[in-house]
Amino acid sequence: MGAHDTPIPLAKPEIGPREEELALEVLRSGRLSLGPMGERFERGFASWLGSDDAVAVSSGTTALHLGVRALDWGPGDEVLTSPFSFVASANCLLYEGARPVFCDVDPETLNLDPAAVEAGIGEKTAGILPVHIFGYPAAMPELEAIASERGFGILEDACEALGAVDSEGRKVGTRGNLATFAFYANKQMTTGEGGMIVPSAADSAVRLRSERNQGRAADMGWLDHGGLGFNYRLSDLAAALGVAQLEKLDEMLASRERVASRYEEGLAGVEGVETPIARRGEERRSWFVYVVRLAEEIDRDAVIARLGERGVASKAYLPCIHLFPHIRELGWREGQFPVAEAAAARSLALPFFPAMSEGQIERVCEALAESLR
Ligand SMILES: Cc1ncc(COP(=O)(O)O)c(C=O)c1O
Repeated sequence: MGAHDTPIPLAKPEIGPREEELALEVLRSGRLSLGPMGERFERGFASWLGSDDAVAVSSGTTALHLGVRALDWGPGDEVLTSPFSFVASANCLLYEGARPVFCDVDPETLNLDPAAVEAGIGEKTAGILPVHIFGYPAAMPELEAIASERGFGILEDACEALGAVDSEGRKVGTRGNLATFAFYANKQMTTGEGGMIVPSAADSAVRLRSERNQGRAADMGWLDHGGLGFNYRLSDLAAALGVAQLEKLDEMLASRERVASRYEEGLAGVEGVETPIARRGEERRSWFVYVVRLAEEIDRDAVIARLGERGVASKAYLPCIHLFPHIRELGWREGQFPVAEAAAARSLALPFFPAMSEGQIERVCEALAESLR
């Protein structure tokens, strides 16, 4: 790395004066939780997405947990899901004693392969938990057909896919299933930590709002509890960031798209690097990360080290869930999901954020080309 080359991080949030202004508004209001900013964020999010409602929670993981509970998945239930995802999409089932049953993914989209889902159905199957991985929409019409034929519930993990559009031209999260979103600092929009659940119906919204708030119903006092609950509330300070981020979400998504298409151009001639698809038919990726796949003969760890020497952050992204120790304990092994395992072995995330300059993108492409030699 030359002295003039500042390191390029993997991700970087877009925080500006509007976030500061609204955070200050909350601080000065004295309403740090359960105040008007939280409601404003929920209304703004639902309106941006085009859903009837949205329930804000403390993270994508807590959103998934409440989603699992809303579908009443528990001991004795098996839920078909992707091994190529962030660990929370399987952990949320374990929280409630349900069993994740992994099914292999499509080699192009890296999302659940509907044929593999069909093959995974057993007597205990209670539902499907599709993940829109790396912002690419899962095959929802096909998965919904499987689910409706057998009466399965669906919980969509859209934590990486805010703004993605599916094969029927519908925004991810608006199909009438429970869907979850996440707002960690590397996501399409951030609240620092935070999440959102799109309820499937008005009664599910009531339960979600109660369970995130210690089991209190809307008309109950602080020490009244109508049932089991959690503290999964989002603070109003976080909601203030969310309101500010929503105002510029379209712009940030467009910037991500710009960066992705520059990468596509810059890496077009680089042998041994396969770039991710942006679209297919009506499907549109919402760019969350930029993950390339390296040819099999390339030593990925060496590439990561060489990129690091050139001031370019990168990461093996991401490992298969079924091979983590606590999931292996349930009986899962290497070799069961060849497509997901091959993707996990070869994928590499490059720096990716809306404010990436042309110069930075060029530097990453050059550094990657050099690092492969
Ligand atoms: C696919 C997926 N599911 C769930 C989560 C969990 O979200 P959080 O980190 O906000 O708990 C994430 C985010 O990291 C994710 O990428």
